[in-house]
Amino acid sequence: MAEVNRYIDGEMTRFHDELFEFLRIPSVSARSEHSGDMEKTAAWVADQIRGAGLEASIIETPGHPVVLGEWRGAGPEAATILVYGHYDVQPAEPLELWESPAFEPTVREGSLFARGASDNKGQIFLHIKALEARLKTAGTLPVNVVVVAEGEEEIGSPNLVPFVKEYRDRLACDAVVISDSSMFAQGIPSLLFSLRGLAYFEIHVQGPGGDLHSGSYGGAVVNPGNTLAHIVNSLKNSDGSVAIPGFYDDVMEWDEKTRDAIRALPFDLAGFTDEVGAPGLNGETGFSLLERLWIRPTCDVNGMLSGYTGEGAKTVLPAHAMAKVSFRLVPNQDPVRVGELLRAHVAEIAPPEVEVTVEELHGGRPWKAELEGRFFEAARRALEAAFGRPPVLTGEGGSIPIVVDFQEILEAPVLLMGFAPPGANMHAPNEWITLENFEKGIKAVAEFYGQLED
Ligand code: BES
Ligand code: MN
Repeated sequence: MAEVNRYIDGEMTRFHDELFEFLRIPSVSARSEHSGDMEKTAAWVADQIRGAGLEASIIETPGHPVVLGEWRGAGPEAATILVYGHYDVQPAEPLELWESPAFEPTVREGSLFARGASDNKGQIFLHIKALEARLKTAGTLPVNVVVVAEGEEEIGSPNLVPFVKEYRDRLACDAVVISDSSMFAQGIPSLLFSLRGLAYFEIHVQGPGGDLHSGSYGGAVVNPGNTLAHIVNSLKNSDGSVAIPGFYDDVMEWDEKTRDAIRALPFDLAGFTDEVGAPGLNGETGFSLLERLWIRPTCDVNGMLSGYTGEGAKTVLPAHAMAKVSFRLVPNQDPVRVGELLRAHVAEIAPPEVEVTVEELHGGRPWKAELEGRFFEAARRALEAAFGRPPVLTGEGGSIPIVVDFQEILEAPVLLMGFAPPGANMHAPNEWITLENFEKGIKAVAEFYGQLED
């Protein structure tokens, strides 16, 4: 192991330079003007995988390509690890809030700032560097490795399930390893016991054929803005729970052991409050803050639009109102079922004088880990070796929809070990990762393979 770590230390300047190159390509999957950048990034990732000593192919999909890396030198009898990550990033707007440009990686006080630094370029890249370090030193790996780097995670992975099904034989594996989540705290590595799922909708309320004078018509014509506010307000109870009938039917009650373990975590409430910057925090009655984030479902407005929002007063009765509303789900909720319940609820309360439609934008199922087995133990020991302390088990409030599909289609357990610092500003301005996590992440992943030698 010492030799691998020496290699990593010796090559670190080049690793940084290469990561900067990766981060400079604006691979924003949501914007068609970046489709050339998506191709360029896929080619760059494929070259990196080849440089590490694996074979790589670029596989076209109806959307952005998938990069598939393969190293099968351990032979057909050995186990296979599938490493998944994504090379696409979220849009960088609002650009004026970045302290240094989003696509010009900049180091300040030991942290690297750029869109994708944590989500997910920095983290998929550290896996490639760990593989390189082992293949350039030991010259071999104790397991076969398949790398899947997709370019559509941030738009809901619309083409990945068909890809995994079509390529299931080439993707056959004994475990899936993903680094696309956070550590519990700086210096405290973590392995995930769960991820929340997602059910995302757009609600439209259509009233009159066009905007009306609110004096001439207000009071006699049902206002879509008022109706939408009423609908949104009906989604939650004052105790913070979701008010849609049937919503909790499939919600799993977590065991006391997990709840005790969550309670025992050294949670930094002051740091969290500071990070959020709100005057206060609140959520579902009867649950701690971490439970509200990890093991309880919720409902949030993500955006709203109606009427006049410019300077000054305009007396108008808007013809239309729209809200983007998403639910974070926990085992064993199903996004399709949540959509049915939402539609039934909205139909029940919406007045007949407006037309209300509910469109589904994306969905992803929640996930619960199997916290045992050879690969889980190897990951635990590897994180301890790299960070000098054993990992804690944590939940995650965010979603990675493909995780459950990997588990079902490939029939392999999934392991999530994230290296993003908490508060990494994923999807926000000034996204960052510490250079320490990048380096220790490479060492942890290299050690993970070391732990699989028998
Ligand atoms: N890397 C995130 C998931 C994540 C978020 C992990 C926060 C840890 C902390 C992933 O790229 C992501 O953003 N997922 C989306 C879902 C997707 C369907 C757009 C999410 O959670 O909103
Ligand atoms: Mn993301």
